[in-house]
Amino acid sequence: MSSPLNHSLISPALADAINLQVGREFEASLQYVSIAAWFEGESLPELAAFFYRQADEERMHAMKFVRYVTDTGGKLRIGALAAPQADFASAEEAVTAALAWEIDVTRHINAIMDIALQERDHIAGQFLQWFVAEQREEVSSMSTLRDVIRRAGPQGLLFVEDYLARRAPAAGSGPAEPAA
Ligand SMILES: [Fe+2]
Ligand SMILES: [Fe+2]
Repeated sequence: MSSPLNHSLISPALADAINLQVGREFEASLQYVSIAAWFEGESLPELAAFFYRQADEERMHAMKFVRYVTDTGGKLRIGALAAPQADFASAEEAVTAALAWEIDVTRHINAIMDIALQERDHIAGQFLQWFVAEQREEVSSMSTLRDVIRRAGPQGLLFVEDYLARRAPAAGSGPAEPAA
């Protein structure tokens, strides 16, 4: 818009917001790798596998936003990433932290959608709908996992492993869950 050669389909405000979100999705990916490794250290392989799958999904989310920025002629600027938390007091604490991050991400996705709506940017709105649906799934599945861990209790984590092993191949962890 500033230059006659600039035919960008993305506003500076939306580009800034999506660039920040690219960083958050990569941070989430690193955080879930870190949680998965923590579960491996606890000899809980199904919980580890669940979080490795989530980490792959978060990287895929980041790349969807990257693709959107480049497709619309925006400038990709990935900021500094925060180091992931490595230590957790318990399985419940690790999964509760993951649930808190998903709720936080949902708030950010909603805020990005607000910008698209204010700008009447229907291209962005259509793109962001996928993430709105994805966040409903992610918050729901993480909340269920947290509840299952609470019900099992610290001595009953093998029940959680069994629960995950039984449901892993089924749908329910997101619209575009990659194969494990
Ligand atoms: Fe995500
Ligand atoms: Fe997520």
